[in-house]
Amino acid sequence: MGKDVIIACDFESAQKTFEFLDKFTDVKPFVKIGMELFYAEGPSIVREIKKRGHKIFLDLKLHDIPNTVKKSMAVLSGLDVDMTNLHAAGTIDMMKAALEGLTRPDGTRPILIAVTQLTSTSEERMQNELLINAAINDAIVKYAQNTKAAGLDGVVCSPLEAGMVKSACGCDFITVTPGVRFADGEVGDQVRVTTPAKAKEIGSDYIVVGRPITQADDPVKAYKRCVDEFVG
Ligand code: C5P
Repeated sequence: MGKDVIIACDFESAQKTFEFLDKFTDVKPFVKIGMELFYAEGPSIVREIKKRGHKIFLDLKLHDIPNTVKKSMAVLSGLDVDMTNLHAAGTIDMMKAALEGLTRPDGTRPILIAVTQLTSTSEERMQNELLINAAINDAIVKYAQNTKAAGLDGVVCSPLEAGMVKSACGCDFITVTPGVRFADGEVGDQVRVTTPAKAKEIGSDYIVVGRPITQADDPVKAYKRCVDEFVG
């Protein structure tokens, strides 16, 4: 499995997204489309970015009853995305249904990964509000194991959790990790961050990088620096 850098295209409109993507003339980066852009522009934004030759991670984090998730995943699979995701909290049954829905008639399907605990959820809130009586790292590992049991490909997690997930689920179990910053860059609102080089060392398979690339003076140069440090 190839390591890759995924650019988080957190833009509010198709126009801003295309202005950004137009800067990339000699490379076609793997891009992440999240809820903001998808809800603003609808499925056409996926088709148009795909037509330009990019791989797409559609980050919609589905979480509903198994039948609804299965049918929704069939729609997303028809959009020809390369990777998509859901919440592991939806249970193993929901994840299995998602996998069925995502699998195309010819047997191919996008990579399917799960969110374990959002990195915005603290251990204290998980215990006091969600009544999950465990250490947060134990909950993350358990959700990752459930994800593997359901037959999915991997999880989204903090780069600092990637090693723990690999130990529990095996080195072929994919880790997709946001929270990446250059050693000399701004951290912004991310708390637990690491550099592309360190993410590589810990064992991330894909890093998701937004503002360090999208807000850079020279986004193409920032992207290439990320690739150099992470893929080598
Ligand atoms: O701009 P930045 O590099 O912080 O962007 C990171 C991207 O990864 C954003 O799209 C953010 O929503 C997403 N993400 C995250 N932490 C998670 C899950 C997703 O930062 N736990």
